[in-house]
Amino acid sequence: MKILITGSSGMLGQALCAKLADRHEVIGIDIKEVAECKLQLADFFQLDITDRNLIIQKIEEVAPDIIIHCAAYTDVDGCESNPEKAQELNVATTATIAEGCKLTSSYMIYISTDFVFDGKKKSPYTEKDRPNPINIYGKTKLEGEDAVKDMLDKYLIIRTSWLFGKGGKNFVDIILNRAKKEKELKVVNDQIGCPTYAIDLAGAVASVISNQLPVISGRLLNITNSGSCTWYEFAREIFGLANISGVDIMPISSEELGRPARRPKMSVLDNTKFREISDRYLPPWRDALKRYLEERKNNK
Ligand SMILES: NC(=O)c1ccc[n+]([C@@H]2O[C@H](COP(=O)([O-])OP(=O)(O)OC[C@H]3O[C@@H](n4cnc5c(N)ncnc54)[C@H](OP(=O)(O)O)[C@@H]3O)[C@@H](O)[C@H]2O)c1
Repeated sequence: MKILITGSSGMLGQALCAKLADRHEVIGIDIKEVAECKLQLADFFQLDITDRNLIIQKIEEVAPDIIIHCAAYTDVDGCESNPEKAQELNVATTATIAEGCKLTSSYMIYISTDFVFDGKKKSPYTEKDRPNPINIYGKTKLEGEDAVKDMLDKYLIIRTSWLFGKGGKNFVDIILNRAKKEKELKVVNDQIGCPTYAIDLAGAVASVISNQLPVISGRLLNITNSGSCTWYEFAREIFGLANISGVDIMPISSEELGRPARRPKMSVLDNTKFREISDRYLPPWRDALKRYLEERKNNK
């Protein structure tokens, strides 16, 4: 199949290109240069997808079977100070990509987020739970979901959470870098979520494309690694696996950290539907973290 990936030089985009290029013709689009992955330069277009005419023209030229729309304004705090940019990229441009899919009869896979929820639920969120975002990022990602739903019949919205992997700004790298410079790290201990390895998510997306896309019931699917933790617990695990010593980690509250964007206190996603359609869960996040730390070591 011919698969066009927006945000192909980002964290998930890179993992998807690497995973899908073995079996499919993959074309990447990103505002950044081609990422170091299996994508050949000839299969990559460096362009700004907020340029409506340019992206529609490119979609019509490529005429892909599937578009996986990963590009987004993913800076959660940045979205609070620049809501216009969040609206443009996460909502208007998502609607343009959906329009392109309609013109070329392409299937659209839209990557969404656990941040569409307010975090008040006491158990994991299923696909049936009603979203209620509490920050601009979550609100615009949800409006992106709505734009896709309103315009298309052939689409799948995949919600995931707390991504880590190479090629993007992520918690694991931030903690490891801070541990080199600071003697004490304060980490939030009142938000619970599912850390998810971009490589594992890419594998799950590839398998859904190969096996379930034609028959999937319902158009919303949660996919994360198994298990859950707080950011503090995540940081402690990173410290343990990376053998970091001589640096203290202190648990703090979200209020103490005082970030511009509010975050849901509990945004664990229930993966039962993914298990039912694929007959498996993704591996536990601790196992995924071990593999990511190995990947980092091997890339040095
Ligand atoms: N990261 C997470 O924890 C997380 C959790 C849940 C869901 N998600 C969703 O998963 C998807 C992938 O996330 P990610 O973390 O892999 O994102 P990412 O690393 O930020 O990658 C997004 C890519 O899109 C590019 N891009 C931004 N604006 C563009 C434009 N106007 N035209 C073309 N390309 C543009 C970015 O370039 P620049 O870097 O130069 O902006 C970046 O290379 C997103 O839709 C996100 O909402 C992410």
